[in-house]
Amino acid sequence: MTIERTQITYRLANKHDYKGLIKFYKRQNSRRCLRRILNEDSVRIAVAQIDDIIIGKALIYILPWTAGKKKDKRAIIAEVFVDKRYRGRGIATDLMKFCIKTVKNVAEDIQVDRVEPENKAAIRLYKNLLSKERVTFMS
Ligand SMILES: CC(C)(COP(=O)(O)OP(=O)(O)OC[C@H]1O[C@@H](n2cnc3c(N)ncnc32)[C@H](O)[C@@H]1OP(=O)(O)O)[C@@H](O)C(=O)NCCC(=O)NCCS
Repeated sequence: MTIERTQITYRLANKHDYKGLIKFYKRQNSRRCLRRILNEDSVRIAVAQIDDIIIGKALIYILPWTAGKKKDKRAIIAEVFVDKRYRGRGIATDLMKFCIKTVKNVAEDIQVDRVEPENKAAIRLYKNLLSKERVTFMS
């Protein structure tokens, strides 16, 4: 499938995206309980979309965090997922960059979720970002 990188939009999902996200989850055979995620105050969903179709998503958790005596916020970026048909074109990289940009001014600490050691694509994706951004792996 030929696509230009400029055709893809990255943004935070809102309640109007429910149907589009359901379709995305179904296409990927995922049984994740979307309604629960959308109703949680501490979680946002970032999406990559082309035309009206969602082709990728990542979850952003914003949680309270205490560093010494300082109260702050921690962002955890997790469950990044790109439609199989669109993988290997930099979409997850751009989606993660969008997530990081979104949380940078909100959270002092930014972490990405752990991944299985055999998940080469995810490890590469995260390591690239870890070397460039103020991000660490979840401990
Ligand atoms: C992991 C995932 C999100 C990557 O999406 P993507 O859009 O294909 O990623 P990108 O195109 O931005 O590639 C990111 C990096 O991984 C590399 N990569 C992509 N697929 C790869 C593969 N199969 N093996 C090794 N490296 C791979 C790319 O070359 C790129 O590195 P580079 O910029 O240094 O060349 C996608 O494979 C996916 O949805 N997997 C299933 C869900 C999952 O495992 N999520 C992560 C854990 S929650």
